[in-house]
Amino acid sequence: MTTEIKVCMGSACFAKGNQENLEAIKQYIEDNNLEAVVTIAGTLCESKCDIGPRIIVNGKEYTNVTVNMIPDIMKG
Ligand code: FES
Repeated sequence: MTTEIKVCMGSACFAKGNQENLEAIKQYIEDNNLEAVVTIAGTLCESKCDIGPRIIVNGKEYTNVTVNMIPDIMKG
């Protein structure tokens, strides 16, 4: 099964941490050889900036995401 990750690339989420979170996700994928089963896409601002940074994994929304949370989020 493919895991679909969407990272909010709106300016608020990006500035509040999604820039680092995106790098952490890419690193996690590389470290665990998940390139074939994970897709990453950016999303635009959905006016939920106050609960950002937002990351959506297979339709499940994670809010106030920090780099420390990425491994758990990736494990599902
Ligand atoms: S920038 Fe992510 S919800 Fe607005």
